Amino acid sequence: MSERRIGIVMNGVTGRMGLRQHLERSIVAIREQGGIQAADGTMIIPDPILVGRNELKLRRIAETYGLSRWTTDVAEALAEPDVEIYFDSQLTQLREKGVRAAVEAGKAIYCEKPIADSLEAAVDLARLVRDSGLKNGVVQDKLSLPGLRKLKRLVDGGFFGKILSVRGEFGYWVFEGDWQEAQRPSWNYKSEEGGGIIVDMFCHWRYVLDQIFGEVKSVYCQGATHLPARWDEQGNEYAATADDAAYGVFELEGGIVAQLNSSWTTRVFRDELVEFQVDGTEGSAVAGLRNCRVQHRSATPKPVWNPDIPATENFREQWATVPDNETFDNGFKVQWEMFLRHIVDDAPWSWDFVEGVKGVQLAELGLQSWREGRKLEVPALDLGAK
Ligand SMILES: NC(=O)c1ccc[n+]([C@@H]2O[C@H](COP(=O)([O-])OP(=O)(O)OC[C@H]3O[C@@H](n4cnc5c(N)ncnc54)[C@H](O)[C@@H]3O)[C@@H](O)[C@H]2O)c1
Repeated sequence: MSERRIGIVMNGVTGRMGLRQHLERSIVAIREQGGIQAADGTMIIPDPILVGRNELKLRRIAETYGLSRWTTDVAEALAEPDVEIYFDSQLTQLREKGVRAAVEAGKAIYCEKPIADSLEAAVDLARLVRDSGLKNGVVQDKLSLPGLRKLKRLVDGGFFGKILSVRGEFGYWVFEGDWQEAQRPSWNYKSEEGGGIIVDMFCHWRYVLDQIFGEVKSVYCQGATHLPARWDEQGNEYAATADDAAYGVFELEGGIVAQLNSSWTTRVFRDELVEFQVDGTEGSAVAGLRNCRVQHRSATPKPVWNPDIPATENFREQWATVPDNETFDNGFKVQWEMFLRHIVDDAPWSWDFVEGVKGVQLAELGLQSWREGRKLEVPALDLGAK
């Protein structure tokens, strides 16, 4: 069987997302399964060049995964003749420079969200990428989570009737870093380094809401920096300048009201780290990362409020589990495979930089809403003529 090797510059591969999700769980996994099949039967084999700042880390990662190419010089990597894709999972603030270099080099671009650290920069970048005619994409991994795939299946199948509301809880306790090491990098808690839960999570909420329930029309956001001090990777105390919780209310197309709480300062009393409850006229669902449960109107109990007696029903037991009915692969890998097919076969791909801009737009409006204490409309995006 013939092979088509695709060189991919992977910049930021020493980071959390770059290493675990994009390299190990996606690119290495695709290589280990023998590649993916293109429309003409050719096997597409991704061939990464690891790029980062630390030679030692890069060499170790390359050895661990049996890879041979790595460099600290992104220009050198982009100049390799077999390179077709530039991938970026660096710190958000560095993304723009990397993407611009890739456009200059004429490579297709795939990157983590947010695509830039301001709406203005994101629009500029999307315009540049569009005008270059290069293929481009932004990670929208939550759409490939089994729980959300099942939720989408329910929406598409008409299970809910008219959807009334969506309530989402995302979060867990991120340790301060003093008496127990923090499980997320310190830049996430510094606004001057591109951190903050609004910037981080509203990019996700935009595509989840837009693509599963209906376009986001307005946002009201109350942010908070609940913990003003944290301790960094070196054990030094620093001022946590970025928001670590966001309480958002979004109006969607069709009158749906979505309320989403995002927090790194909450302790989990849920089945999964993110859960969405969707209530509709015909039925309701609760979906997490992997599982999804439903209750149809025909099976809805009729509770009567009486605080004088213990609960008479076990409400959780009254829900039915939505079966998998398919095999769910890692969400990041699924999207890599789609993007590779988009490159090779021109297969449909809708998660481009314009979608990436929408995420940054909602994050920026969320921050503005918090600052000004008011609800804001989400205007249609206009990138202007080519
Ligand atoms: N899709 C998702 O669910 C998801 C989740 C978390 C993070 N992200 C995004 O992925 C990107 C990376 O996040 P992460 O959690 O992997 O961060 P991380 O701190 O673990 O990794 C950051 C990467 O950037 C590189 N880098 C280059 N210059 C740097 C500098 N001056 N300071 C610090 N790092 C520098 C690091 O070497 C590292 O490879 C961010 O843009 C973030 O928004 C996406």
